[in-house]
Amino acid sequence: MADFLLEMKGIVKQFDGVRALDGIDLQVRAGECIGLCGENGAGKSTLMKVLSGVYPHGTWDGDILFDGRPLQAQSIRDTEAAGIIIIHQELMLVPELSVTENLFLGNEITLPGGRMNYPAMNRRAQQLLAELNIGDVNVVLPVKQYGGGHQQLIEIAKALNKNARLLILDEPSSSLTASEIAVLLDMLRGLKAKGVTCIYISHKLDEVAAICDTIVVIRDGKHIATTPMQGMNVERIISQMVGRDMSQLYPQRKHAVGEQVVFEARNVTCYDADNPERKRVDNISFQLKQGEILGIAGLVGSGRTELVSAIFGAYPGVSEAEVWLHGRRIDTATPLKAIRAGLAMVPEDRKHHGIVPDLDVGQNMTLAVLNEFAHATRVDKQQELHAIRGEIALLELRAASPFLPITSLSGGNQQKAVLAKMLLTKPKILILDEPTRGVDVGAKFEIYQLMFELARQGMSIIMVSSELAEVLGISDRVLVIGEGQLRGDFVNRNLTQETVLAAALAQSSPVSVPASAAPHH
Ligand SMILES: Nc1ncnc2c1ncn2[C@@H]1O[C@H](COP(=O)(O)OP(=O)(O)OP(=O)(O)O)[C@@H](O)[C@H]1O
Ligand SMILES: [Mg+2]
Repeated sequence: MADFLLEMKGIVKQFDGVRALDGIDLQVRAGECIGLCGENGAGKSTLMKVLSGVYPHGTWDGDILFDGRPLQAQSIRDTEAAGIIIIHQELMLVPELSVTENLFLGNEITLPGGRMNYPAMNRRAQQLLAELNIGDVNVVLPVKQYGGGHQQLIEIAKALNKNARLLILDEPSSSLTASEIAVLLDMLRGLKAKGVTCIYISHKLDEVAAICDTIVVIRDGKHIATTPMQGMNVERIISQMVGRDMSQLYPQRKHAVGEQVVFEARNVTCYDADNPERKRVDNISFQLKQGEILGIAGLVGSGRTELVSAIFGAYPGVSEAEVWLHGRRIDTATPLKAIRAGLAMVPEDRKHHGIVPDLDVGQNMTLAVLNEFAHATRVDKQQELHAIRGEIALLELRAASPFLPITSLSGGNQQKAVLAKMLLTKPKILILDEPTRGVDVGAKFEIYQLMFELARQGMSIIMVSSELAEVLGISDRVLVIGEGQLRGDFVNRNLTQETVLAAALAQSSPVSVPASAAPHH
C-alpha cells in the first residue's frame, strides 16, 4: 500500500511563452483533504487539469503516481476510470438538458437494447439530490431553470454520481449562498468520513480553513509550502500566497461623496420570465450621488442582479425602469443604449455575459468601444493596442500577451479583462455585479483601490456583492433587497453585518430609510 494516494513530481506545463507550472510537487495521503491555495494565475487550475487528463500525458513534463502506479492519462475519461473526478471552476452543465440528463451525461443507464432507462435515472437522480439536501429540484426540468447556486450543487451531484476516490473541486462555492455553502461543506465532511480524498480550491479562505487538513500554497507555478492546517490560520495562508504580510484587506478611502444626486432609478420592476404574475423586483427606486459607492446587499435570489440588469437594459424578461442621469431621463432599453448614455456594467456571470471566448484578450477589452478607434473605414490598431496595454497595466492584469485567447487567462484575470472592457467606455455610472468573485485577496485589494480611485475622480459606483464584509468594507451607502423589495437604505457608518442581515431577512417594509436628498430635477 503506497504512502500517498497521489504523488505529482516535478510537473512542468508550458503554454506558448508562459511557464504556468514550473516543477511542482504535490503529495496527497488517502483520506486527506488538501486546500490548494494561490493567487489568481498561480497555476491551481492548470495543475488540476494536468492531474485530471484535460491536458493529456505528453503535453507536460513530470510524473504522476496514483495509488503507486504511473498515471499517463490521455483524457479525462481515463482519469475518471481511475476514480479521479474534477469539478471545474466554470460550470460544465448543458443548460437545455434536464437535470437527470446532465447528471448521467456520458454515464447513462440503459435498457437491454440500448434505449435510455429514464425512470431509473430519474429515481437515482432524485435520490442523489435528496442526499445532498437539494431534494427540491425537479429532475425532469431543464437545468437552465435553476440559478447558479443550484446549478453548482447539481454539478457536484454529477461528480458524486461517479465513483470518486479523489475528488477535485475548483472554486466550487463562488456562486453559492451561505446556506448552500453550508450544504457543500457538510457534504464534503460526509465524503471525508467515507474515506474520499479531496483537493479543494477556493479563494474563500475561511472555508478552506474549515474543511482542509493540509494547506498547499503555490505561487507563480512553484510550490511554496505544505503545512498542516493545525497551527495555520487565514492570515498565514494569505502571507504565503502573496509573499508578504497583508495587514488590511481594504485600502484607505480617498474619496468623499459629493452633494449632488447624479443618478436615479425609479420604479424598477422585473417580471418573472415564466410566471408574469410574479415580480422578481417590485417597484424599487434609489438615488446615487457623485462619487458615491452604493453597495447592494441581499440574499441570493432576492432580486439584486435583476435590479441592476433592468437598469442596464440587460434583464432577459419583461421589466420597467425609469433611469435618470444628471437630471435627464435616459434610454437604457438595451445594454448598448445604456453604454451610450454613460452606464457600464460588469455582469455576475462572466462566462455567459462577460467574455467572448473566441476572441483574444485585447479584442474582448475593446469590444464595447471599437468605434472610438475607427477612423473612416480603418481601425487604428496602434491606438487600440495602446488603450489595451494601459488597461492591462492599470488592473495589473496577468496576461503574457493581449493576443492570447481570453479563455487562456486564469479565472480572476478574466474578471479583470471584463472590468477593463467596461472602463474603456469611460462610464459615469459603473455597475459591478459580484466584482471580486473568484478573485484572490491581493487582486481584490487592487480592485477596491481602483474603485476608490474612480470614485475620487467622480464616478459613481453600484456594487452588488454576496460578501457582506466586502459590502461594509467598500460602500458609502448600502441598499438591502429582500424578495424583490427594498428592505433598507443605510448610510455605512457604524453599520454592522447583523443590521444588514436583519433587514435582508425581514418580512416586509423597509427597516430604515434615512431621508436622502430630494431629487434635483
Ligand atoms: N490555455 C492557456 N494558454 C495560455 N496560458 C494559459 C492557459 N491556461 C492557463 N494559462 C496561464 O497559466 C497561468 C496559470 O493559470 P491558472 O488558470 O492555472 O491559474 P489559477 O491559479 O487557477 O488562477 P485563478 O485563481 O484566477 O483561477 C496563468 O498565467 C494563465 O494565464
Ligand atoms: Mg483557477
